[in-house]
Amino acid sequence: MKKRILVKFSGEALAGENGFGIDTKILKFIADEIKSLVDNGVETSIVIGGGNFIRGVSAAKDGTIKRTSGDYMGMLGTVINAVAMQEALEFVGVSVRVQSAIKMEAICETFIVRKAKRHLEKNRVVIFAAGTGNPFFTTDTAATLRASEIDANMLIKATKVDGIYNKDPNKFKDAKKYDSLSYDQALHDNIKVMDDTAIALAKENSLPIVVCNMFEKGNILKIIEGDYSNCSIVKPDEKEMV
Ligand code: GTP
Repeated sequence: MKKRILVKFSGEALAGENGFGIDTKILKFIADEIKSLVDNGVETSIVIGGGNFIRGVSAAKDGTIKRTSGDYMGMLGTVINAVAMQEALEFVGVSVRVQSAIKMEAICETFIVRKAKRHLEKNRVVIFAAGTGNPFFTTDTAATLRASEIDANMLIKATKVDGIYNKDPNKFKDAKKYDSLSYDQALHDNIKVMDDTAIALAKENSLPIVVCNMFEKGNILKIIEGDYSNCSIVKPDEKEMV
């Protein structure tokens, strides 16, 4: 069976040490990683957050900007990242299409699930931009939604850490890493791997979520090939199977 995956990158990761904007060295690194997936026959789609530009919740903190407007501003940030990633992928010779949840036809295609699947079948990478197109949803939820819609086998959350811990590994030396956990554990154990909406949607669709370190070269391909030694996976346990 053909492997079809969605990789979620945080916008913040694109910013590098600056914490803001886009570091083209990181963009190029990610593009090379994605190219290795495509070269190995993996149908690959991407969601990138927008936190390197703006976060709706933070923008709305003092009440000057409404939360809904802050979230739309955040969605625009994800479109900037998607266009940048499109350029980097084309630079390394990968075919790519950007589809936005909000129509902006001068910049990119509009999200149409059947068209997205067609692009993937033609070995094009598809980048889903503008989140879900609605305020109050995170890009993690957008990633889970799009992964479910395109029948992805797996959602990979590519982060700065190598998996899911019971407490912050940067603060606590005795933090314990999970190899695997159920959706219910991810929902109830105060494990902030993704927001509850995203986890609930993944659970409903039995979509496995893998959390791994994006900066380790070859890591994502290793996971897709079945080596889960360097990541954490959220998947249905037997009682959750229907
Ligand atoms: P096939 O029909 O499978 O060959 O796909 P295709 O994407 O190559 O064909 P299409 O003619 O739809 O697109 C050609 C180019 O135009 C691609 O680079 C698309 O990303 C781009 N494109 C298609 N629709 C839109 C749109 O609504 N807005 C923008 N900005 N670009 C678009």
